[in-house]
Amino acid sequence: MLLDNKVAIITGGASGIGRSTANLFAEHGAKVVIGDIDEIGGMQTVNEINKHSGNGIFVKTDVSKMSEVKTLVEKTIDVFGKIDILHSNAAINPKVNALETTEQIWDDTVDIGLKATWMLAYNSIPFMTQQGSGVIVITGSVHSIRGYAYNTPYQAAKGGVLALTRSLAADYAPTIRVNAILPGAIETPLWEKLGITPEEAKKSANMCPLKRNGQPEEVAQAALFLASDMSSYMTGSEVIVDGGLTSIIQQH
Ligand SMILES: NC(=O)c1ccc[n+]([C@@H]2O[C@H](COP(=O)([O-])OP(=O)(O)OC[C@H]3O[C@@H](n4cnc5c(N)ncnc54)[C@H](O)[C@@H]3O)[C@@H](O)[C@H]2O)c1
Repeated sequence: MLLDNKVAIITGGASGIGRSTANLFAEHGAKVVIGDIDEIGGMQTVNEINKHSGNGIFVKTDVSKMSEVKTLVEKTIDVFGKIDILHSNAAINPKVNALETTEQIWDDTVDIGLKATWMLAYNSIPFMTQQGSGVIVITGSVHSIRGYAYNTPYQAAKGGVLALTRSLAADYAPTIRVNAILPGAIETPLWEKLGITPEEAKKSANMCPLKRNGQPEEVAQAALFLASDMSSYMTGSEVIVDGGLTSIIQQH
């Protein structure tokens, strides 16, 4: 029970990595607030959480909107009285290069993937400061540190969240710890949305030394580590969960 009596907000918790993390946090005793635009998926996660702890709620939230982020944080305080853990995890990933990127695609991707993390921090940090403690866990990507074709706005957002992680860590230490997780290729519903074929998934698996794609539960374990006192001497850092993908130049 690494998160006994802790209160956690998880954005993007209606699916994939966020849902697995919500379940794992709840198994470890946390009260979990899911912020997501997907109401059906969000309620499904809450039902799963409530089987473990009876302490999950869903707040329909478009994380790219300041007013909705503010409501998410205020609702968390209203219902549970505090925020111990903020996990900024929602993102979208349009597969476009710079010339295929419209202004709308750029704004949506960067607002959901980067600006939202600042807005979540902006609204949560005053409560964390007041209570004298808090942990922020931000989902980046291997795209935060490596290039890849057809990912222009996503990579800009993911590079930005890693820089933001360091900035928040510097400003709010020692009260608040802020760290990032950089997942590699993780099999989640995002892959269906991107139209990734079984052949492409196999190719992706062969690109990393562990020769398989990751599962959302394997990223959730890193989130649990960073959200708990297990990582008490870490801030401004990143944990890479990528099967070794970024540790090599080329895999045969
Ligand atoms: N799956 C991967 O291979 C992979 C790799 C690296 C990083 N990541 C990152 O992990 C995180 C989770 O990705 P996933 O694979 O679980 O994806 P997913 O598509 O399964 O889940 C993303 C969730 O974000 C929500 N969301 C989208 N726009 C939103 C908005 N405006 N407001 C609120 N919620 C919104 C979706 O409804 C969904 O529930 C993302 O930050 C993603 O960039 C994923």
